[in-house]
Amino acid sequence: AMNSYVTLVGGKTYLTDEWTNVRPGILSLVGRNLHKNSNHPIGILRELIESRFKNLGYTFYNDFDPVVSVHDNFDVLGFPKDHPGRSRSDTYYINKDLVLRTHTSAHEPLCFKNCSTPGYFISGDVYRKDEIDRTHYPVFHQLEGGRLWSRESLGDSLVSQIESEIAALPKLDIIVEDDNPIFDAVQNPKQDHMSDLETKLITLHLKKTIEILVDQVFNEAKKAALETGSNVLSFEEPLRVRWLQDRFPWTTPSWQIEVWWNGSWLECCGCGIVKNEVLLKSGIANSIGWAFGIGLDRIAMLLFGVPDIRLFWSNDDRFKKQFSANQISVFRPYSKYPGSVRDISFWLPEKTMEASALHENDLMEIVREVAGDLAESVKLIDEFVHPRTGKRSQCYRVNYQSMDRSLITEEVNALDEKVREALRSSYNIELR
Ligand code: PHE
Repeated sequence: AMNSYVTLVGGKTYLTDEWTNVRPGILSLVGRNLHKNSNHPIGILRELIESRFKNLGYTFYNDFDPVVSVHDNFDVLGFPKDHPGRSRSDTYYINKDLVLRTHTSAHEPLCFKNCSTPGYFISGDVYRKDEIDRTHYPVFHQLEGGRLWSRESLGDSLVSQIESEIAALPKLDIIVEDDNPIFDAVQNPKQDHMSDLETKLITLHLKKTIEILVDQVFNEAKKAALETGSNVLSFEEPLRVRWLQDRFPWTTPSWQIEVWWNGSWLECCGCGIVKNEVLLKSGIANSIGWAFGIGLDRIAMLLFGVPDIRLFWSNDDRFKKQFSANQISVFRPYSKYPGSVRDISFWLPEKTMEASALHENDLMEIVREVAGDLAESVKLIDEFVHPRTGKRSQCYRVNYQSMDRSLITEEVNALDEKVREALRSSYNIELR
């Protein structure tokens, strides 16, 4: 039989086999790197989070290859052989040994091993076969974090070191609901190589760190919303979060943080204390620490008021041009149906008396009155003064466009005629 291959953006080629289930539509998204684009909501959100953790002992990795081994994505993290996440109906296999990573946790062992700072952050695109609707897409983005303390280098000062690091973390203006015991022997057992006190301290440091992250994301969004006067984001003060127990194959105990946002609890970030066997398998002995992973897309949808996750992948300038680095701006929807423009030119009277003067806002009012939401935009595109008569001419361009259907020419002509009629009858101007 002939060998067949898949080729990724950038030209890397992989041999396929009976496990291969990636399709061209998915492969074409690999390498878009939205998380590295400073002018894209996903990239803006990543940078917003990273900025809060600069100079606090973290290295930031944003360039890992989304093609990883089954070993890195599942085996080393302790996923059982029959875990549903491994199935070909959940995961995109390049071939039996390689997958498109289903989470950034696939890079945890490497980072714990190689990172020269005590902690790290990883961001990247992750791939899961999923239902299709406005909040689910087979590609989304995660930000992973991890932190280790070495018994070898800290010795007897391990506990006091973690204690002083916790004490140095900033106090936050948020309400935290946390009924969890330090650990739950049945649901969420502590690890044998750690004392109760160590478990308690690592847990505290982990939870505080994630609370800082959530504070950064949601309180920054609040500030931005207030500055732009947007009413898309409504919220109570102060921010409320709650901690629930959770389970992950490579952490114990494990938790999930939820944020109270616009009237419901939003699942935000899974985390836990990294299992010793995972660290040992990764070549790290005598260390304790935590890891977390947060999904960026659903949070970016809320912060930027983006109603459909698919818009993040849009190549339309009307989407892309709305966002710029370090800014949380609220998305203004545009239509996927074509618009139709009509120009309106007129002479203004020589000496404009207040009563008859046409101000730009008056024109806007008339167009809005006549066309309602079908008026997508009105722009002054030309203006000049006649050299001899001294009369001023203006030309406005109106774009008529519907959010949910194509407009027919007759309808647009009728709207244009109504606007002209309203201008003619209300203002002392001379339509050209
Ligand atoms: N990778 C997990 C997920 O995708 C999140 C996680 C990361 C949980 C690190 C614990 C530790 O849901």
